[in-house]
Amino acid sequence: MSKITVVGAGNVGATAANVLAIRGVADEVVMIDIKDGVSEGKAMDMMQTANLLDMNTRIKGVTNDYDATKGSDVVIITSGIPRKPGMTREELIGVNAGIVKSVTENVLAHSPNAVIICVSNPMDTMTYLIHKVSGLPKTRIIGMGGALDSSRFKYYLSAALKANPNEVEGMVIGGHGDTTMIPLKRFATLRGIPVSEYLDAETLDKIVADTMVGGATLTKLLGTSAWYAPGAAAAEVAEAVIHDQDAIIPCSALLDGEYGEKDICVGVPCLLGKGGIKKIIELPLNEEEKDLFKKSADAVRKTNDALPV
Ligand code: NAI
Ligand code: 2OP
Repeated sequence: MSKITVVGAGNVGATAANVLAIRGVADEVVMIDIKDGVSEGKAMDMMQTANLLDMNTRIKGVTNDYDATKGSDVVIITSGIPRKPGMTREELIGVNAGIVKSVTENVLAHSPNAVIICVSNPMDTMTYLIHKVSGLPKTRIIGMGGALDSSRFKYYLSAALKANPNEVEGMVIGGHGDTTMIPLKRFATLRGIPVSEYLDAETLDKIVADTMVGGATLTKLLGTSAWYAPGAAAAEVAEAVIHDQDAIIPCSALLDGEYGEKDICVGVPCLLGKGGIKKIIELPLNEEEKDLFKKSADAVRKTNDALPV
C-alpha cells in the first residue's frame, strides 16, 4: 500500500494529485487544505473521473485533518500564496515561511518516515527551512523546482528544434528564480546529439533567457502562477521516489561540499528513488558554469538570510 499526501489543494496541489492518480503512482492520494470543503470537493470531482479514465487510485480530500494523512510515504507541500504578475518568488517568503513551518511539523507528526517534496516558493529557501525545522536526513527533503525548469527548457528547445519534446534532453540547475536558474545549454541534446549542432548561439541564448523567465511569462498571462507543469513536475519527483526509479532529476538538495557549497539547498542533478535523494551527481562544469552556480547559490543564500529561523 503506497500513500501520498498533497498539502494545499489549490492549483498546483490539485494538479499534482490528479496526475498522480491518473498515472496510478500510489494506491491512495490525500489532499489536505485549510479552506473548508475545497479538498473534499476536488477529491470527489477527481474520483468521478475514475470510471471515465480507468483510474484505480483512491483520492481523499480533508480540511485540516492530519489524521487522514497518517503513514504517508511521500508528502508534497504546495501550501502557500503564489506570485502575482510583477512579483518575484522571493517576495513570498514572509507568508509562506510560517505556513511551510507549521505544515512540516504537522505532516511529520503523522508520517515520521515520509519523503518531503517542497513546491512552495521561494522553493529553495522553503526546502532549506524544512531542513531546519524538521532535522530530517538530507536525503528525505527534495525541492522540485529543477524538474519544472528543466521541462520548460526542453519545451523551448523542442520548439526551436521543431522536435518532439520527448526527444530532447536538458537540465536546469541553480536556484528556482528568474535570475538564478542555470539552463545548461552545453549539456542539452536531441537524441544524444548536442543541440549546438542544430541551433546557433543566438537562438540558444534566447532559449536560455526564455526558460529563466518561463514562470514569469505564465504568471503575466494567467494572473497567477502556472499549475499544469508545476503539478506534473511535483508528481514526476514523487513517482521517482515511490517507484524507486533511479531517475536523474535536477532538484533542490541540501549540499555538503558538492559544487563547492555547504548549508544551502539549491538545484543540482539528483538520483531519486526509494528513500529520496540517493546521490547528488556532480557535473563537470566549465569555469563559466561554475561562476554562474556560485552567483546563483549566493543569491539563494541571501534569501535564506531573510528566514525567520
Ligand atoms: P493556490 O493559491 O492555488 O493554492 C495554495 C493552497 O494552499 C490554497 O488552497 C490554500 O488554501 C492552501 N493553504 C494555505 N495555507 C495552508 C495551510 N497552512 N495548510 C494547508 N493548505 C494551506 O496556489 P498554487 O498556484 O497552487 O501555488 C502554491 C505554491 O506553490 C505557491 O507558493 C507558488 O508560488 C508555488 N509554486 C511553486 C512552483 C515551483 O516550481 N516550485 C511552481 C508553481 C507554484
Ligand atoms: C513557476 O515557476 C512561480 O515557481 C512558479 O511557475
